[in-house]
Amino acid sequence: MDDAIVPAQTTEPVPNNLEPFWMPFTANRQFKKNPRLLIGAKGMYYTSHDGRQILDGAAGLWCVNAGHNRPKIVQAIQEQAAKMDYSPGFQMGHPRAFDLAARLASLMPGDLDHVFFTNSGSESVDTALKIALAYHRVRGEGSRTRLIGREKGYHGVGFGGISVGGIVNNRKHFGTLLAGVDHLPHTHNLERNAFTRGLPEWGAHLADDLERIVQLHDASTIAAVIVEPFQGSAGVILPPKGYLERLRAICDKYGILLIFDEVITGFGRLGKPFAVDYFGVQPDLVTTAKGLTNGAVPMGAVFARKGIYEAFMQGPEEAIELFHGYTYSAHPLACAAAHATLDTYTEEGLLERASGEIGRYFEDAIHSLKGEPNVIDLRNLGLVGAVELEPIPGKPSKRAFEVFLKCYEKGLLVRTTGDIVAISPPLIIEKGEIDRLVETIREVLRTV
Ligand SMILES: Cc1ncc(COP(=O)(O)O)c(C=O)c1O
Repeated sequence: MDDAIVPAQTTEPVPNNLEPFWMPFTANRQFKKNPRLLIGAKGMYYTSHDGRQILDGAAGLWCVNAGHNRPKIVQAIQEQAAKMDYSPGFQMGHPRAFDLAARLASLMPGDLDHVFFTNSGSESVDTALKIALAYHRVRGEGSRTRLIGREKGYHGVGFGGISVGGIVNNRKHFGTLLAGVDHLPHTHNLERNAFTRGLPEWGAHLADDLERIVQLHDASTIAAVIVEPFQGSAGVILPPKGYLERLRAICDKYGILLIFDEVITGFGRLGKPFAVDYFGVQPDLVTTAKGLTNGAVPMGAVFARKGIYEAFMQGPEEAIELFHGYTYSAHPLACAAAHATLDTYTEEGLLERASGEIGRYFEDAIHSLKGEPNVIDLRNLGLVGAVELEPIPGKPSKRAFEVFLKCYEKGLLVRTTGDIVAISPPLIIEKGEIDRLVETIREVLRTV
């Protein structure tokens, strides 16, 4: 690892007034009583406000794949800020955006060779859903308006994303959502698949539910199916062997677009650049964000197959083909960060690293937690793992949240969702850090 450009500060006082900041996806009142503040980062570690080194077992929020404060990325952002802070993205462009799109297209297999830039995973999802709807319309199949998601799916927090998403707390407060959405069943099944290493054997047939949905609504009304190759935010739910292939086949049969939401799986999490490579299944649209810039500047990208882009390129040449875009699409700072991130991934072989020895070591380490108190499942793929815990009766999610708090006290950051502890470290993690991560979780599990 190279040195950070800015030396880490060791401590920082808690601000006097925590009240005005309404924190996202956070228990605000609990947090503000005993705040967990981060003030610095380098490589595999954060520095907390009270001066402790916190091992990052979550790559921030599944995004810092190359580790923190990588000098090349820091420098690229600094240089770009000094050269050109902003350029409008509508009817104007800047060279690095075009270079970046070409570079990303060459990294993605098949003909997923056109790239639309956004600023987040949520925006990527809404963009992909809109492209899918508009694509059918420009081809004269405007009756295809239904979108199919999946139970337990997480596709960000825009209205499109929560409509196709399947996590009840993200949906129930927000009215009727988009009309015309249906959901596939999720594939989580502990009776059949608990303690599987890698992909579970059981459950490919759950993809056939798409046939039922087609019979119910008719294919002529369905625009697209969107799934995460594995479900991250719902707690690392892996697709059964053959499941994604079956979804692809049914979509092909009925002319339905298949969208992979690779906001988490993109950029090396599974030991290949994308889950598209890992599973060898080609979707029609792919949504990405997070690891695209190593989390350093917000950015997302939607990949579209050639035929989709080309379907829009008709009519008068001076006419705008897609009425969609963001003020910050292809922001110069984000493009600079993305180029430097891709350089770092390539130079260090990070996009493949999870498929090598470190991935196998990680798998063994995760599964060594079998038999620890309240562990009812262990799952892993690439450099992602999950520990599912028996809920405390009548208090769902409390046990895992306590694991999260105690891990943080002991200098480890993990994510929890429900009673599942998710582990997704930066891809630069070494064996000693995997040991420390898993032993901290083991120690904590023995106390909750
Ligand atoms: C699969 C998936 N899609 C979309 C999103 C939303 O991304 P963002 O929080 O950048 O909007 C996430 C975030 O975790 C995600 O995991």
